[in-house]
Amino acid sequence: MYAKIVGISLLVVFSQHFARIIYKAGYHHVLYNHTPGPCHQIPGVDHGSEDMETLPNGMTFITSGHWWSVGSKHFHNLYKEQNRQGKILLFNFNTPEKGVIELGFEDDFDIPEFHPHGISVIQNEDTGKITLFVVNHLSDRDQIEKFQFNEKHMMLEHLFSYRDEAIILANDVAATSENSFYFSNYAYSRSHLGMLFECFLAQFPWGSVVYFDGANYIEAADGLLVPNGVLLSPDKRYLYVANGFFTSLSIFGIDDDDRLSIIQEYQLYSSPDNFLIEPKTGNLLAGTHHVLHQTGDHLNAPDVYNAPTKVLMIHMTNTSHADGITELYSDDGSNISAGTVASIYDNKMLIGSVVDKLMYCEVRTLE
Ligand SMILES: *[C@@H]1O[C@H](CO)[C@@H](O)[C@H](O)[C@H]1NC(C)=O
Ligand SMILES: *[C@@H]1O[C@H](CO)[C@@H](O)[C@H](O)[C@H]1NC(C)=O
Repeated sequence: MYAKIVGISLLVVFSQHFARIIYKAGYHHVLYNHTPGPCHQIPGVDHGSEDMETLPNGMTFITSGHWWSVGSKHFHNLYKEQNRQGKILLFNFNTPEKGVIELGFEDDFDIPEFHPHGISVIQNEDTGKITLFVVNHLSDRDQIEKFQFNEKHMMLEHLFSYRDEAIILANDVAATSENSFYFSNYAYSRSHLGMLFECFLAQFPWGSVVYFDGANYIEAADGLLVPNGVLLSPDKRYLYVANGFFTSLSIFGIDDDDRLSIIQEYQLYSSPDNFLIEPKTGNLLAGTHHVLHQTGDHLNAPDVYNAPTKVLMIHMTNTSHADGITELYSDDGSNISAGTVASIYDNKMLIGSVVDKLMYCEVRTLE
């Protein structure tokens, strides 16, 4: 009798669990194609444009050539075969016809491997100095690189590698000054199987957001399941976190001790990757993965499978409250697969992707 009850209870728990995973995988999701105006791919970007940030003057820094230790074996082989490479690209919204240029590195660049992922760019208001923080996945650890941009020579000078046990499998970084930042730890495992187990089978919320205050690393929020992009609000009082698995925007308040307290969990019904601010309205832009099982297939084998891209504009009542969504762009994956981020400047939009193209659109409808 006892065994039967235990057996039935386990069965109920497991079926609920699997129903939830199947639901999140998005097999039932329908998607239509539309654009906010004419769109085209930016030539020369075929291996990703995972994250980007645009400065007030329209200069946009983009990470390309995504690779990380948790990738599939097929993807790691493809990366080598196709000679994919980690790069920082620069795009200028004032001269979109020029496309992107690849930024060079000054001689002192001595990082063993460069596989950029999340990026955060800040400009010093007094000196104009531009500092880049970039998540870098090495084979055996992750670290966060700091660069200074030399506009005259279109070069990056490597300033520092932040290394610590607190940086486990990082995804994105959000600078709060020239020597402090938040970053997300996507998962605990650094292997492909381990991460699949964490994300999709066991659903262990072992992800976190960590703050580096210039001296110490402190856990600012824990118990998160694959937290993705992190972005500081324009007033620097809140942190927006892309809650990938739960398909929501988490708005955290930044406490006096730099730890985070949840203020709003806003449901997007599509898995957000990165957020950026739309400068004219203060609304948030999100690149989202709408059919997660297709995103998974595409990331494992981008040479075989496409995956959808969606861009959402999340209406902000104020910097700590979301209310309403407009879908700006949707593609089934034929033009750009697994879009991750979108930036708007002066009615023009760039859309980045994990390991695929970079899309440029005119934005004629923005309501
Ligand atoms: C932001 O807007 C929400 C909803 O209107 C409101 O509840 C909240 O108090 C506002 N927050 C601030 C800091 O004004
Ligand atoms: C896809 O590309 C075609 C051909 O360039 C273009 O007409 C269409 O608008 C694009 N659609 C999307 C959703 O990007």
